[in-house]
Amino acid sequence: MQKTKEVIKMLYSNLTVNAQGHLAIAGYDTVELAKKYGTALFVLDEDKLRENCAVYVNSMKKYFGEDALPLFASKALCFTGLYRLIAECGMGTDIVSAGELYTAIKAGFPLEKAFFHGNNKTDADIEYAIENGLGYFVVDNEEELAAISEIAGEHGTMQKILLRITPGIDPHTHKAVVTGSVDSKFGSAIETGRAYEMVEMALASKNIVLEGFHCHIGSQIFECEPFCDAADIMLGFIADVKEKYGFNTKILNLGGGFGVRYTENDPQIDIEANIREVAAHVKARAEELSVAMPKILMEPGRSIVANTCITLYTVGSVKEIGDIKNYVSVDGGMPDNPRYALYGSAYTIMLANRAAEAASFKCSIAGRCCESGDLLQEDVMLPRPKRGDILAVLVTGAYNYSMASNYNRLPRPAIVMVSTKGEKVAVKRETFADLCLCDE
Ligand code: LLP
Repeated sequence: MQKTKEVIKMLYSNLTVNAQGHLAIAGYDTVELAKKYGTALFVLDEDKLRENCAVYVNSMKKYFGEDALPLFASKALCFTGLYRLIAECGMGTDIVSAGELYTAIKAGFPLEKAFFHGNNKTDADIEYAIENGLGYFVVDNEEELAAISEIAGEHGTMQKILLRITPGIDPHTHKAVVTGSVDSKFGSAIETGRAYEMVEMALASKNIVLEGFHCHIGSQIFECEPFCDAADIMLGFIADVKEKYGFNTKILNLGGGFGVRYTENDPQIDIEANIREVAAHVKARAEELSVAMPKILMEPGRSIVANTCITLYTVGSVKEIGDIKNYVSVDGGMPDNPRYALYGSAYTIMLANRAAEAASFKCSIAGRCCESGDLLQEDVMLPRPKRGDILAVLVTGAYNYSMASNYNRLPRPAIVMVSTKGEKVAVKRETFADLCLCDE
């Protein structure tokens, strides 16, 4: 047995090993799915996704109040069917580009619940968003504020905004994803006084309705403390702007969601309990500061989609280089999952068609790109693989497909959704013709 049933369950309650010794997701045999749809293939468990959304929606309402709203961070995974699902689950969305906004519009997503982020929105982005009735911009900087005010004026609308504030918290996470510290390219720092200047400018801007503030301290955070620390600083800021400018904050957005378990070494986390703890802290602090409790937003991405997906590949070759290293090459790699190449991210990997066999072969999983760094993982224990075996990488729903590329002119995989109601292709596999679509 490569990973015990308990370990698989720990990572993902809907994964099992069936009577044929095959890995199954939501009861679907992964070997059958690979045969039917081809590889590389993302398989997404729709019921698990609904369950993950419900945890945030229900816990936030229960502990922060009825008006609290989780926004799905589209950057983690973005396609029309997903927007339809998260809308059904009662979530809003955080988008960071006109492309994500376009996808949301295509899906019929209620745009009053869409928040447009990013540190460099172009005039064309702003225009497109305003024309389509975007709910809120999360304003990053002064130039952007002026542009939104002007373009809203041209369209005869008053545009609602939040200001992105950097609270200066180091959440002790991967450096590349720390976005809330003072030297960040995002937002305006409280420490430098810039955040106050932005409030003054927003309040003085025509066609702008300032509704509140946003902060994001980083990604893959497991503890409550960094969120509570950030909330303390933000509530202090909210109290200050009330005193200085008489401004009453309606909305406080606390940023991204909690961390995700990629391997058994990652901590187990209870999201409802964490939200309860953060909410109790925020409420107590607001009372202490005599600040009216704002409507609370959060923007979970990873923890909504990561454990809903697995990626299936077909093994092509096994290269044993003496005692030095063994390579197992698969029909995908950094174009569909760049996270190991970029961040050295850990993943759990198994042979899906031999899931009940003992694992005694140590190997590195290589992608098919013409690049040595194209690896999915190193030092993985598997039964010795052979050409034609199906390899599964678990917990691949977040920042895999959304960061996928066509490097080496490899078509992006399909995404198949499975649920108790059946299976369907949610995103088609790209064809060679798709690859040349924009070529003149
Ligand atoms: N809100 C904002 C403003 C963000 O910058 C992010 C993530 C999120 C929400 C969602 O955070 P989550 O709940 O997913 O942790 N590509 C990297 C992750 C970059 C995250 C950037 N911001 C990765 O693959 O690990």
